[in-house]
Amino acid sequence: MNSPVMQGLNLKAPGYVKNARLIAWVADMVALCKPDSLYWCDGSQAEYDRLCQQLVDAGTFRKLDPVKRPNSFLACSDPSDVARVEDRTFICSHRKEDAGPTNNWMAPADMRATLQPLFDGCMKGRTMYVVPFSMGPLGSPIAHIGIELSDSAYVAVNMQIMTRMGKEVFDVLGVNGEFVPCIHTVGAPLEPGQQDVTWPCNKTKYIVQYPETREIWSYGSGYGGNALLGKKCFALRIASRMGRDQGWLAEHMLILGVTNPQGRKYHVAAAFPSACGKTNFAMLIPPQGFEGWTVTTIGDDIAWIKPRADGKMYAINPEAGYFGVAPGTNTLTNPNCMASLDKNVIFTNVALTDDGDVWWEGMGPAPDHAIDWQGKDWTPQTAKETGAKAAHPNARFTVAAINNPALDSAWDDPAGVPIDAFIFGGRRSTTVPLVSEARNWMEGVYMAATMGSETTAAIVGQVGVVRRDPFAMLPFCGYNMSDYFQHWLDLEHKLEDSGHTLPRIFCVNWFRKGDDGKFVWPGYGENMRVLKWMIDRIEGQAGGTEHVFGISPGYEDLTWTGLQFSREQFKTVTGIDKAAWQKELELHTELFQQLEYHLPKELAQTKALIEQRLAQ
Ligand code: OXD
Ligand code: MN
Repeated sequence: MNSPVMQGLNLKAPGYVKNARLIAWVADMVALCKPDSLYWCDGSQAEYDRLCQQLVDAGTFRKLDPVKRPNSFLACSDPSDVARVEDRTFICSHRKEDAGPTNNWMAPADMRATLQPLFDGCMKGRTMYVVPFSMGPLGSPIAHIGIELSDSAYVAVNMQIMTRMGKEVFDVLGVNGEFVPCIHTVGAPLEPGQQDVTWPCNKTKYIVQYPETREIWSYGSGYGGNALLGKKCFALRIASRMGRDQGWLAEHMLILGVTNPQGRKYHVAAAFPSACGKTNFAMLIPPQGFEGWTVTTIGDDIAWIKPRADGKMYAINPEAGYFGVAPGTNTLTNPNCMASLDKNVIFTNVALTDDGDVWWEGMGPAPDHAIDWQGKDWTPQTAKETGAKAAHPNARFTVAAINNPALDSAWDDPAGVPIDAFIFGGRRSTTVPLVSEARNWMEGVYMAATMGSETTAAIVGQVGVVRRDPFAMLPFCGYNMSDYFQHWLDLEHKLEDSGHTLPRIFCVNWFRKGDDGKFVWPGYGENMRVLKWMIDRIEGQAGGTEHVFGISPGYEDLTWTGLQFSREQFKTVTGIDKAAWQKELELHTELFQQLEYHLPKELAQTKALIEQRLAQ
């Protein structure tokens, strides 16, 4: 690249970089990866614009119509590099047991020996970008710093949107500050004179976390969570382990604020596996009949939560942007999200319309013609004949949180927001009621630990199979899942002993189906009715009935103004089918057998209580 600020292979760090460990690590990584040049990102708008132009010149970005989508770009990836690669993701703790049965594991020394030759010279012919970022508001006591070294300008510009990225991070880091070193390469060195491709990557991929030394090494992919290392690798896998060691939580949770007509504000953090409407819930618009209520977004994907001396648990969104799934998003399901995408967006793997805009399945009426995410002509007719998708099902948008019209005023508050309730949700067509409140912390942990989701056609061949996804953390927990359950259980005593008020725990399921196979609960904005019940419960003002799996509202306990929803329908979404629960518990037994090592005894005890209630 010919930018005037490019420093070639001059290793000298800018004067404002004072951290000796960082400077030494960058020098080591340069020696290993052998880039042609080294560039320290400053996070400025000028830098962002310059790198975007460079990506346009390289053919990686296509600038969208400046009137229809001001300052927005479309990138289309290599067809082999379209999603997180869980089978290539490793937790390299010293002991296999500490990674647990739900993670791929390799001994750190073996992994280092494997990666060494792959990284040796991996950035030849390319620039190494030094990307300094803060996960969370700069200087917040809940935030932590990372430095990503990457040979991808696409990664640098995405990280600029997704994190607080820029040279201010070096001020926070100071001389001795801690940071998580994250090294990323697309694994495609260029020989002198070799023509680059628009989406360099490598068939071989390794997404490696060393939780004990808090390092991330990512090889071979340029896409999403494989490459934007602040997100799943740092903010969940490494941070979950940091949280366990240091007494806090790093969770796969959105955070939202709910203000009732009396002006009292509550904050909830909610965990959902993918394809369960997480972004829609984070940006919910209260329906008709809920005038005076407001819902605001603090985060859409990840929460870091630390207890504070005032007796509450405070959460921040470690990210500064949304890397959301585009297909299915539209002005009916999520108007706030669509409004967020009006300008300053990087789209990846959606379709390009003839007027220089974007389109994806589920966005609205299909254009007569488009260029699909693989660069081929696409028409509704060919789609009908061949099933070809215009956008890849995992196509994404990257957009700054400040684009969200429903952004909470405290979203960037270094103090975080106090959490009043946790919500755990799965996707179940039967068995699990619309909403239940846990009678106590232990029951709540049980609900979260046994959370399940039915597979959809988009995920695996077999539709409707329940996959357990404890706490929606299955691919993201950086240590043994049973130790993670224990960490949650231990928090109860630690927090209570130090005078903390524990948040309430609720379990939701928007996806119960009727005999006709159709969803019964309307979902989206109507989920506000369930949210209101939770807030009313916290205020001590809503009724509920105990059942085998917690406490659920009766028909009268929800507000129905503005919605036709009969008692019969309500029964379909809340009913407890004892036979289904017997089967469900057998599946919990299977899960507990898989997680037997270090499984907290409290889970078996809670299960026994459910069994007793079922037998009554
Ligand atoms: C995500 C995910 O991309 O959970 O957020 O997969
Ligand atoms: Mn996620």
